[in-house]
Amino acid sequence: MAFARLSAFITLALGATLVSAAATTASKGVVCPTGQRTANAACCALFPIVDTLQQQLFDGAECGEEAHSALRLSFHDAIGFSIHGGKGGGADGSILAFNTTENAFHANGGIDDITDGQWPLFLQSGLSAGDFVHLAAAVGTANCPGAPRLKFFMGRPAPKAPAPDLTVPEPTDSVTAILKRFADAGFSPQEAVALLASHTIAAADVVDPSIPGTPFDSTPGTFDSQVFLEVLLKGKLFPGAGEQPGEVLSPLAGEMRLQSDFALARDPRTACFWQEMIDNQAHMQNEFKNAMAKLQVLGQDTRKLIDCSDVVPVPQPFTDNIKFPATFSKKDLELACPRLPLPNIATVAGPAPTVAPV
Ligand code: HEM
Repeated sequence: MAFARLSAFITLALGATLVSAAATTASKGVVCPTGQRTANAACCALFPIVDTLQQQLFDGAECGEEAHSALRLSFHDAIGFSIHGGKGGGADGSILAFNTTENAFHANGGIDDITDGQWPLFLQSGLSAGDFVHLAAAVGTANCPGAPRLKFFMGRPAPKAPAPDLTVPEPTDSVTAILKRFADAGFSPQEAVALLASHTIAAADVVDPSIPGTPFDSTPGTFDSQVFLEVLLKGKLFPGAGEQPGEVLSPLAGEMRLQSDFALARDPRTACFWQEMIDNQAHMQNEFKNAMAKLQVLGQDTRKLIDCSDVVPVPQPFTDNIKFPATFSKKDLELACPRLPLPNIATVAGPAPTVAPV
């Protein structure tokens, strides 16, 4: 680890020197040796790392399993934190640096795939583990059409220790327990729901191991608000080997519904935050972007971080309206926020779909 940090320092120092020689100090930042533009010369070293992530981790900039898992990893890393102290270092990359310890926690089931995938690239990058984990999450999310362009700040020190167990919420937890955990980490119920927009680009491998890659909505390759709609549909089936801990009935073959998402969508403390996301792309993007900006620097001294957000690729937009899956309509919803009108939502034509695994 010490070596990784030293080489990070050298890489950055070298990058910075090259840049000051070649940089155009125009009003809009600098031009890096790679030809890309950024507000701060120190960020130039990140462009080649972004390229490596896209080619070697995200299969050529796809919104696939690795991109999804990189986002999940950033949450599981950062949430190991308490505003009252006594827990982990927050968004410090401890989940990657101390993966042998943290991967063994029950809530981190299946996360070893992405820590294994990131490990060699992290060593090669020269970044701190925290910078690497949270850069990868921002870049992976940017591969999903409809996602906001997440911020990225650089300069997290190396993590000191693994986060303790039992900081990551589980799908078997009650709404009260989930909101308490989020509050302990500094997030309001509204921010917790905002962060759950992530489940629009998500699938489960270990909830029901007989059906790995089972998505939480019918469009896991798009950062749309479909998950907020589909979690409110009446459930009628289990997609795999029957009911599993943390799983409840889902409306569609091939789709997994988490008990926690089901409960948060219907609980009076969160139902209106949930429902107002439906077909409200700009609102959802904005809420998610802000909550992620907070999550990704949790526990860090932000005065020491450099804003390198302009190294994050610009996501493709999602400009359509969302639709009910074929055969479903408003009558199939279990709406739990009476004060909010539901927008008009069309239904996809044809027979009810079976959602394909990711
Ligand atoms: C109440 C809080 C949460 C619970 C209980 C929860 C639970 C889960 C579970 C059980 C899975 C499936 C794991 C598997 O079987 O492979 C999952 C996947 C995922 N979660 Fe969450 N989650 C929560 C919040 C979040 C947040 C805040 C984020 C990000 C900001 C997030 C991002 C993801 C992503 C992207 C996946 C898909 C990973 C993949 O496809 O590889 N989750 N979550």
